Amino acid sequence: MRVYIETDELVLREFVDEDIAGIYELDSDHDVHQYLGANPIHSLDQAATIVKDIQQQNIKYGIARWAIIHKLTNEFVGWTGLKYETLVKKEMPYYDLGYRLKPKFWGKGIATETSIIALNYGFKILQLEEIFAGAHIDNIASNRVLQKVGLQLVEQFVYDSSLHNWYAINKINWQRGLLK
Ligand SMILES: CC(C)(COP(=O)(O)OP(=O)(O)OC[C@H]1O[C@@H](n2cnc3c(N)ncnc32)[C@H](O)[C@@H]1OP(=O)(O)O)[C@@H](O)C(=O)NCCC(=O)NCCS
Repeated sequence: MRVYIETDELVLREFVDEDIAGIYELDSDHDVHQYLGANPIHSLDQAATIVKDIQQQNIKYGIARWAIIHKLTNEFVGWTGLKYETLVKKEMPYYDLGYRLKPKFWGKGIATETSIIALNYGFKILQLEEIFAGAHIDNIASNRVLQKVGLQLVEQFVYDSSLHNWYAINKINWQRGLLK
């Protein structure tokens, strides 16, 4: 199992089959899905499909979301990081920055901290030119995280029948942010 990075409190690693229970807890939560189409999952089978899909993306594209593990308790916190996204904007596959945490871990800066790590990984290790993200316009926390880590609002678009903000950051602007 590949570990990408450890912070003082967290391990960011690739998904393993043992994460199915954690994904079930995360994705069956109505609050977590408030701005994600309000369609939480209802079974461990659905959670297993999600984990398998993430693992297959890693094999196919060399990148997929990272599981976040709380070091002290070994608890599954949620996920963060990059994904090669082919479904949201069908005319334009892109590298997406995203995150999803169990509510007990909200408000501690975890999405911000791990997004900065993911951007570094995308631009330095994967040598990407540009990273994008979308967030429901009412998802204040997610919009705030994207702005804090340096993404810029480009436009708005409709996804899943809801208005979303569309953000981008290119390698040059990311490097400029590092110099500040
Ligand atoms: C979005 C999400 C990952 C944020 O995670 P997090 O670790 O709590 O985020 P952070 O603590 O790093 O930062 C959140 C920021 O939003 C701010 N914020 C959150 N809710 C807010 C509100 N209602 N009003 C104003 N600011 C708010 C926080 O104050 C913080 O900003 P600050 O550091 O400037 O004070 C988390 O809420 C989540 O998992 N939500 C469900 C899944 C989801 O919506 N994912 C994103 C899909 S685009």
